Amino acid sequence: MSDPDKSRHVTIMIADGRKQWRVTGPLEQELAAHRCQTATTEKQTLDAALEQLSSHSTIDVVIVNLLYPAENDGPPNQEPLGLAVVNAARDRERAVGNGKRTTLVVALRQPSTAYPDLDREARDAGADHVLEWSDLGPRSRYGGLKELAKWIHDELTRNDLIAPLPELSRDDEPGILTALSDIGEANVSLLITDLAATVAEVKSARLTYVTPGASGAHVLRAELTLADDTLRTWLLKFAKDAAELKTELINSQNVAGAYTTQLVVEYLPYGPASHGGWHAIAMVFASGAKTMRTWLCETSATDHVSDVFHQLFLDGGLATLYRNATRPAKEQRHGNHPVPAVEGLMLPPHRRLRVRTAIAELEGLMRESRAVELTVAPDIVSTIEGFVRSGEIAGRAVDHRHGVLEVVPQHADLHGGNILVLMARHPRPCVIDLAAYGRQHWALDVARLVVDIVMHCLDPAPESHFWDRWSVWRAAVARTSLFEPAADDPDNPAAIEALRWVAAHKDDLLPLLTDVKQWEWHVAVAEQLLRYACRHRLSTPKRLLGLVAAYDQLHLAQSALPNVPSSF
Ligand SMILES: Nc1ncnc2c1ncn2[C@@H]1O[C@H](COP(=O)(O)OP(=O)(O)O)[C@@H](O)[C@H]1O
Ligand SMILES: [Mg+2]
Repeated sequence: MSDPDKSRHVTIMIADGRKQWRVTGPLEQELAAHRCQTATTEKQTLDAALEQLSSHSTIDVVIVNLLYPAENDGPPNQEPLGLAVVNAARDRERAVGNGKRTTLVVALRQPSTAYPDLDREARDAGADHVLEWSDLGPRSRYGGLKELAKWIHDELTRNDLIAPLPELSRDDEPGILTALSDIGEANVSLLITDLAATVAEVKSARLTYVTPGASGAHVLRAELTLADDTLRTWLLKFAKDAAELKTELINSQNVAGAYTTQLVVEYLPYGPASHGGWHAIAMVFASGAKTMRTWLCETSATDHVSDVFHQLFLDGGLATLYRNATRPAKEQRHGNHPVPAVEGLMLPPHRRLRVRTAIAELEGLMRESRAVELTVAPDIVSTIEGFVRSGEIAGRAVDHRHGVLEVVPQHADLHGGNILVLMARHPRPCVIDLAAYGRQHWALDVARLVVDIVMHCLDPAPESHFWDRWSVWRAAVARTSLFEPAADDPDNPAAIEALRWVAAHKDDLLPLLTDVKQWEWHVAVAEQLLRYACRHRLSTPKRLLGLVAAYDQLHLAQSALPNVPSSF
């Protein structure tokens, strides 16, 4: 990992023609706070500075004053002679010829009306950072020498000129190698330092790979050794796009207090930290935890299902907020109008296209005797297409008269990969991944979890790749959606127990459900099933289940639709 020979020793040359050496001592002190030992040489004349640059000695950082006092009296009384030092520093680098940065150049200037383009000229000559002398004052907007020291430290680390701190270690596992080569080891180090800044100083971090979810972020587990030798284990999420991480962090702060404290994983409040185009957030790593998807595939979970689901939803769990309904309104020409319930249950446009692709991929199997051979195949396709296209429910158009959209605060990505079960004598659930948290149709959290259990926990691989259990899965979805207990299944006791628990707790989990809204629940389940039909990571039989069970749900929804006065 980090090069053991590479030290944290920094050599600085300051070239200033004004004999004002206020920088050296304080800058060295600030760099010491980043655990760098600094040796600084000060060159008062231009020649001395240029001579030093032409020698073979190592110079990690050049700090150069751009405007030197003019040799002749009279205006202008300053000349941009420092540009020669910038050029010399870059020439030196080019002479090495490997294209690597060996010296950082910081150019400083006084405000000058005589040289309005000096910033640009300095950058063109190769300065990495151009500041005004006044920026170095402790109360400047820039942040003074403290900020400059941080910049120097971070750039030296990123350019591999000093060994990174915290020191990273890892094994040769492909996931971690990919993540580190994407993000860059120096960036990982700097991001960890920044995330830890308000908590503790981190000496070293041992990294392991964690399989990410659908977000595409890199997820790593980091065992940290702090300066006082105590250990912490964090989960780090790295992404190129800060927005989603930021939302996740803000949501984690917003939900704190809404549920029992232990239900949501604890996030580090600071972040996202940003370095070199990457962003990161951190949370406490739940050691010894399994995802609910994994857990429900184990027979030993069966006896604890009821207890874990109770903690997840009831008594300060997620269902606490499922009654807090609001009705979003949409502005139209004649004032505000309620939104039809069906609009909260339709797939977003990009998913509609994916469903169409899934139908094209799977349709043939519906007629295939070696698969499921359904006589109603054409009806399945047209029913799903009608719903996806216009929200039509098995041939019937619905609008606000059939129901008005009510939304409640939900996790909004409640699948078994986003629920951890902490293993103990009494296992305990913990919710992660709050990026989507917010108000949505009241049935969606529960619909998503039910469908996720069927897709991932009923006959996991290899059985999920065969067709002989297909009708059992289809029946389990149908029965659970009607709040009837799913049939006994000795191969999947924990998953069945979970589905039965949901069916038995309909009043707690779906407190807004009434007879006239029953159809909305079935449509919510259908919408979730269609999403899973598009997932190539699922087996083909499970994907086809997504389509056919969605068709079943749309029919159940249609027969539950309330009668409304016919429109004209
Ligand atoms: N705090 C945590 N402790 C232990 N494992 C975690 C933690 N957070 C996430 N994980 C693991 O990392 C996986 C991906 O995390 P998640 O936050 O869901 O990322 P994504 O946004 O990519 O879905 C989870 O399924 C889980 O296995
Ligand atoms: Mg996730």
